[in-house]
Amino acid sequence: MKSRREFIKIGTVGGVALLSANSCAADQTPEEANVPVDFEPSQPITKPIVVSTWNHGLDANKAAWTVLEAGGTALDAVEKGVRVTESDPENTSVGLGGLPDRDGNVTLDACIMDHHSNCGAVAYLQHIENPISVARKVMEDTPHVLLAGDGALEFALDKGFKKTNLLTAKSKEAWENWLKESEYQPQINSENHDTIGMLALDEEGNLAGACTTSGMAYKLHGRVGDSPIIGAGLFVDNEVGAACATGVGEAVIRTAGSAIVVELMRHGKTPQEACEEAVARIISKHKDLTNMQVGFIALDKNGNVGCHSVYAGFNIALRDKNHEEMVDAKYEKEW
Ligand code: GLY
Repeated sequence: MKSRREFIKIGTVGGVALLSANSCAADQTPEEANVPVDFEPSQPITKPIVVSTWNHGLDANKAAWTVLEAGGTALDAVEKGVRVTESDPENTSVGLGGLPDRDGNVTLDACIMDHHSNCGAVAYLQHIENPISVARKVMEDTPHVLLAGDGALEFALDKGFKKTNLLTAKSKEAWENWLKESEYQPQINSENHDTIGMLALDEEGNLAGACTTSGMAYKLHGRVGDSPIIGAGLFVDNEVGAACATGVGEAVIRTAGSAIVVELMRHGKTPQEACEEAVARIISKHKDLTNMQVGFIALDKNGNVGCHSVYAGFNIALRDKNHEEMVDAKYEKEW
């Protein structure tokens, strides 16, 4: 089965997505510059750069780009970028309009990390449209990293965030339809969780990342995925690079996915190689890979980008001065 997403193709299915921001000088051949054979940018890819998961990343990148092109920070860019997806009621996997848990509650997970290794996160947060901004407040205004549930909501309200009904008519209807056939059993279904993860490298050469989701649709009440877990859904180390994950959060948590990608880059892997090894680890640790879609993006300190996934269909949005593109990730398995 191919993914349900309409891809904006720039290459063949499963095309390599190994891009280079700094090494793609005009006098280099594509091979030397680590440019994929099926992605031939008309212009060199340059810093600043922002990359994010899935087609919803295009609009999110647009917002992030307004910050980056004005010389703003990667941190401001990723927050502004993913807020667009969180506030989109048509998007059923992030923020407002996200599909609920099996009891009908929309519960949100998000985290953010900057170039000083500061980080903040919220888990199981209800009624707040932009959890990424609450996560940033946790990072900046508290001595903690992660607030969850009622405490996170209380904190958000104290900080002036407004209570919102996140269950839209569309997501309520989808949930009610699911209830008819589900026998109340949550199922891992790759159709139902498409986190937005975003990584940016700013003009100053600093990295930041953000990750936000409504999690797996129709999950057990109280379930938290990888997206608010620093090291799983997101990791940034300004000495090396940044990585984020999308897909089945349980698999990402088991393998400390994003931290592993960054650590592999520290030990000399390119972003692409690091993503491939993290995917290989997911595959080796799971006997049953049914619906076990996971995708990673990595961005190194020099602006090189990689992405890889277990199954076909993962794509990333990339934006720099000269490009606004969707890139299909390489993958290991057809559906
Ligand atoms: N990756 C999002 C989740 O599993 O919740």
